Amino acid sequence: MSRSAHPAGPRHADVLPEGHYTAPPTDLNVLDEKVWARTVGRNDDGVVTVGGIEVTRLAEEFGTPAYFLDEADFRARCRAWADAFGKDADVFYAGKAFLSRAVVRWLKEEGLNLDVCSGGELTTALDAGMPADRIAFHGNNKSQEEIDRAVAAGVGRIVVDSFQEIVRVAHTAQRLGTRQRVQIRVTVGVEAHTHEFIATAHEDQKFGIPLAGGQAAEAVRRALRLDGIELIGIHSHIGSQIFDTSGFEVAAHRVVRLLAEIRDEHGIELPEIDLGGGLGIAYTSDDDPREPHDIAKALNEIVTRECEAARLRTPRISVEPGRAIVGPTAFTLYEVGTIKPLEGLRTYVSVDGGMSDNIRTALYDAEYSVALVSRTSTAGPMLARVVGKHCESGDIVVKDAFLPADLAPGDLIAVPATGAYCRSMASNYNHALRPPVVAVKDGEARVIVRRETEEDLLRLDVG
Ligand code: LLP
Repeated sequence: MSRSAHPAGPRHADVLPEGHYTAPPTDLNVLDEKVWARTVGRNDDGVVTVGGIEVTRLAEEFGTPAYFLDEADFRARCRAWADAFGKDADVFYAGKAFLSRAVVRWLKEEGLNLDVCSGGELTTALDAGMPADRIAFHGNNKSQEEIDRAVAAGVGRIVVDSFQEIVRVAHTAQRLGTRQRVQIRVTVGVEAHTHEFIATAHEDQKFGIPLAGGQAAEAVRRALRLDGIELIGIHSHIGSQIFDTSGFEVAAHRVVRLLAEIRDEHGIELPEIDLGGGLGIAYTSDDDPREPHDIAKALNEIVTRECEAARLRTPRISVEPGRAIVGPTAFTLYEVGTIKPLEGLRTYVSVDGGMSDNIRTALYDAEYSVALVSRTSTAGPMLARVVGKHCESGDIVVKDAFLPADLAPGDLIAVPATGAYCRSMASNYNHALRPPVVAVKDGEARVIVRRETEEDLLRLDVG
């Protein structure tokens, strides 16, 4: 993730420390459209707008910190994925990236399916009216109660993750007088090029059943023997925030090889494969993500080619993008508080949120961009570290970024590309109140997840 060294900016010119930054942009007022949601821009007064509404108005009405989600962008990305994969494939939005009832309704309207991985996500999906047969249920340790609910609801598929679970799901379905469609999640032994905590295809980890040593083939044998389940396919998810498609290609190759082995051993051709999610997005101007149609083309080609070589009918493909749909659609709006210039180092800019609304920087060493959004500035660039208000020094939102040197308390700054894995991983650390998610579209803003209140905190505290 490290970047090339930087030419010096006007401030701290000879003393810029080592860091993960490139040169300061020539004009800090310009918003790089790569990292901002589609309807974001600056109006004639220099104030940033989303969906036609100024961030200053949004801050007044909804407070800060808050996540603002561009609904039009979200829907457009859903359509782009659905169009790219076409009618012979299925796109499942990965709800873990961010899920709410409004999101479920948008997905339903845009024709997407939904991947859930807990009882809570399943409840949200069903409550908001997602048809059960468009839901896939995931997880490496589903409880019996979750399995009961998923089977009883009639979810379209359960992605089974262990030998125990194959038996459990089969018995549950039999007890409930039904037959559950399942896929078996396998680990294909690929090292995905991403942070180790979000890579999931190597064998030494908790997800899936390894292809290696014939374990996946044995899982298939057992699944085919059980009446309560219908084995519809094989599932592989290699990791998250990945730019390079070669990992997906190796995964597709190995999954198709398993399909051929199954055909040779059992005389059946499984009709589906799922290649998971994981496509990376741009967090900074240095990231160059691939477009859905590019990915669809690459995956279709490789699966078709591998199937032809193995003389198999091409299975129906499904994918599970989470981050690539919701990530770029939202930004977090913060108010600047204290500002501390540390001579020879950088300037610490404190905001009214922090690791409780974005844990990704602390957890994965993630990089983000940031911009002054309540006004423009002609001041030179200052190397800044945007930090939160929590009680630890690792409470960093943006490690290294350039902000105008005249930044002042009360200014609004925004961190783009926070739609995925920010609100969904938010915490109450230091009894912080989790921020709201506000959907903005065509000049209207509406809260879809409200801000937590101190009453919410006290309501849980029953001691
Ligand atoms: N399918 C499965 C089975 C998954 O486990 C995941 C993500 C996805 C799909 C969606 O992946 P995406 O397209 O969003 O990359 N909290 C981490 C990411 C964890 C991803 C977990 N699984 C982060 O903030 O980077």
